[in-house]
Amino acid sequence: MQYCRAEIARMAGYTPGEQPGDRRYVKLNTNENPYPPSPRVAAALRGLDPERLRLYPDPVFAALRREAAGLLPGTGPEWVLFGNGSDDLLTIAVRAFVDAGGALACFEPSYSLYPVLAGLQGAKCVTVPLTADFGMPADAAAQAEGCSLFFVARPNAPTGNSFPKEEMRRLCRDFRGIVWIDEAYADFAPDNCLEFVKEFPNVVVSRTMSKSYSLAGLRLGWCYARPELTAEMMKVKDSYNVGMLQQVAGLAALEDRAYVESGAATICATRDRAAAALVKLGCVPVPSAANFLFVRTPQPASSVFKALRANGILVRYFPGGRTGDFLRITVGTDAEMEALLSAMAEILKPA
Ligand SMILES: Cc1ncc(COP(=O)(O)O)c(C=O)c1O
Repeated sequence: MQYCRAEIARMAGYTPGEQPGDRRYVKLNTNENPYPPSPRVAAALRGLDPERLRLYPDPVFAALRREAAGLLPGTGPEWVLFGNGSDDLLTIAVRAFVDAGGALACFEPSYSLYPVLAGLQGAKCVTVPLTADFGMPADAAAQAEGCSLFFVARPNAPTGNSFPKEEMRRLCRDFRGIVWIDEAYADFAPDNCLEFVKEFPNVVVSRTMSKSYSLAGLRLGWCYARPELTAEMMKVKDSYNVGMLQQVAGLAALEDRAYVESGAATICATRDRAAAALVKLGCVPVPSAANFLFVRTPQPASSVFKALRANGILVRYFPGGRTGDFLRITVGTDAEMEALLSAMAEILKPA
């Protein structure tokens, strides 16, 4: 007897990165931030009277929306929607913009959750292959013809590179559906596409607190779009999809942008030093605009992955396809990257 929908029974589901419990690792596998969140977050949580938790949180997270709208001048709270992590917003997007039996598009390789969300909706996922150096093909919109939603991670994951802004503009102009620009890593990049939501009626840009804000455990993400679009997405979300602790801590974090920007600058500097050192070890990193490096290794990536793990260092390996020759390495502290580099030097040493 099968009790669940056939699509669900058939699908594999999303595989999250490992959160190990067996020993202490240098954990460079899930693109978390190695530094603590702004001290204002702890202060805000300490200041919350637990008695308030008796009540439901604000279903429309008004204070958060006001604060986030301030990051995009010329908009207001009605341009913003929050979610339980940006993954929640991606789910809302698929439920709002893709018919069961319809289709969404994403690049390959890109964030592996996108095809899973298509499967959950009973929709098709059209994967548009990136070019040999993980760039955007010029005919991306044509390849996604017939899809009602196109997920574009910029910077891309797991490759870490960013697509030129003019190519993004062309895609937004040419694609006849919603272009969802997933800017989970935008704070580590030299530019972003936030202003596109004012330029185009079909663009949504999402952000997360999980990376640059050092709050992956909080689960808070948000997106910007024209009010006509956010109003539709509001109908789809769970009534109370952002809890009170998330709202209190998230507001304090958003109010401390200076902390986020200086933390991101530190990580970018560490990233660029680590990339140069990896090149010296014979690795080939993809130019990164994110808080991780996607690195082709001179020995099989699967065995380097295993050897690093045996040395107490966790990175991410995506077997097969376009990604099987690479490791994705989150940028940690300088000390963590030193540990990674000396283990790599040992592993890659000629026999
Ligand atoms: C491209 C991309 N989008 C979204 C997410 C999920 O972010 P969140 O923690 O906000 O759900 C990730 C997480 O790794 C990601 O790589």
